[in-house]
Amino acid sequence: MSTGSITFVTHDGTAHEVDLVDGESLMVLATSNGVPGIDGDCGGEASCGTCHVIVDDDWVDRTGTRSDEESQMIEMSPECSPNSRLSCQLKACASFDGLKVHLPEFQM
Ligand code: FES
Repeated sequence: MSTGSITFVTHDGTAHEVDLVDGESLMVLATSNGVPGIDGDCGGEASCGTCHVIVDDDWVDRTGTRSDEESQMIEMSPECSPNSRLSCQLKACASFDGLKVHLPEFQM
């Protein structure tokens, strides 16, 4: 059930708004809606690093910080930033309505 929306902003500045589905990961929401720039090669196991997103500064308080497991993967990316997350590890919930995340130029 859709309970709002999440916006993925690709590196060229294009915004892709998708329906928020409670309990679904941001990686699945992006790939199932054809958002370019998120691959999700490992299927959400936090082991490929191809679902990297950078949470908008305004939303970091609500999304929380990445786990050690995410950090190990993301810190290998040259585009790693303090707000970087693996989108497969971010489960959408109603409080994410309006969430904006940015995509790196390249996935690993
Ligand atoms: Fe592979 Fe997220 S889908 S790390």
